[in-house]
Amino acid sequence: MYLQSLSVLDYKNIESAEIEFSSKLNCFLGDNGAGKTNILDSIYYLSFTKSFFNAVDTLNVRYGCEMFGLKGTYHNNNESDHVAVGYKLNQKKQVKRNKKAYKRFSDHIGLYPLVMVSPSDTSLIIGGSDERRKFLDGVISQFDTGYLNALLRYNRVLQQRNNLLKKFADENRFDEDTLSIYDVQLCEYGNFIHKKRKGFVEAIIEVFQEFYQYISGGQEKVVLEYQSTLSDSNLDEELEKNRKKDRLIQHTSIGIHRDDLLLNLGDYPMKKVGSQGQTKTYLVALKLAQFEYLKNASGIKPILLLDDVFDKLDTNRVEKIVQLVTDDKFGQIFMTDTNREHLEHIVEKVGSDYHIFRVENGEVKK
Ligand SMILES: Nc1ncnc2c1ncn2[C@@H]1O[C@H](COP(=O)(O)OP(=O)(O)O)[C@@H](O)[C@H]1O
Ligand SMILES: [Mg+2]
Repeated sequence: MYLQSLSVLDYKNIESAEIEFSSKLNCFLGDNGAGKTNILDSIYYLSFTKSFFNAVDTLNVRYGCEMFGLKGTYHNNNESDHVAVGYKLNQKKQVKRNKKAYKRFSDHIGLYPLVMVSPSDTSLIIGGSDERRKFLDGVISQFDTGYLNALLRYNRVLQQRNNLLKKFADENRFDEDTLSIYDVQLCEYGNFIHKKRKGFVEAIIEVFQEFYQYISGGQEKVVLEYQSTLSDSNLDEELEKNRKKDRLIQHTSIGIHRDDLLLNLGDYPMKKVGSQGQTKTYLVALKLAQFEYLKNASGIKPILLLDDVFDKLDTNRVEKIVQLVTDDKFGQIFMTDTNREHLEHIVEKVGSDYHIFRVENGEVKK
């Protein structure tokens, strides 16, 4: 599966673009603020029916315009798939696949698997635990619709349970029986989600460490560990144990909504001891491990978006990443850079199958 062509209309600073792609490597070259990331984001949008950056679509419409439109044609087993997104200010957006509109956008997720490596991934390391859960959820949902549904249900029940705890506090009463009805559902979905998250981390840990060691030249050891109260206790018992506390604080203190990932360099948190280059290496290795996992789970080589991936890395590490991603185990790649030399070097490795685009002021030229 690969993206054959893309058409963009008034998406962020891209007024209009019609682009034909290579099935292997596509490079966007241009100065800061030119629109390179915006192009990658439009490709991301076609896979996920939303922007990697702005959950609010109003911000994605080009300033002063009324709407944006994106179209992608995918080559898939000798057939063409057309995906179209249209959004008008103050209206509900439309997503169509082969001219048929989706009722639920979640049905689209996973059909065109994609992995984005972005400078903003650092939020995984420096941000709160919600960022790391978002990462886990995003990856697993891409190939497991059961997971996505369980997650939506868990969050709904959690919200209802929290509302109930607040209501009890307001009305100065406490009804354990009603609460335990929610607990049963939380356990059902929570245990399922826990199992999937645990399975995912276990499945990628080795590949992740291998990628990290390869890129870094094998000197540093990285740790990735799934942390959850469910790992060594039962959710139903814990919910019961924490009832008094939940009643007091008026929300649910225990569950998979508190899960986290431990990200270490050796014995210390990446956040505290990692240099910029090490942090970047950690994130690139993690995303490439995600790629491997998605590829195995879906049977499709995901599209790989590498946004400014070489920034802050020394030449050795850049060289290693180039060697990795130009290997046949990766499929179609889109990368951005401000530096022509990097790209020329990469292109030499790949041989003939590549396109280089120049991006200037929201315009894309081959
Ligand atoms: N909705 C929008 N309308 C017009 N311009 C936008 C919109 N959103 C972002 N931009 C502009 O896009 C530019 C950033 O583009 P970006 O793709 O991040 O650049 P880069 O080439 O450095 O990756 C900024 O100048 C920003 O103001
Ligand atoms: Mg950019």
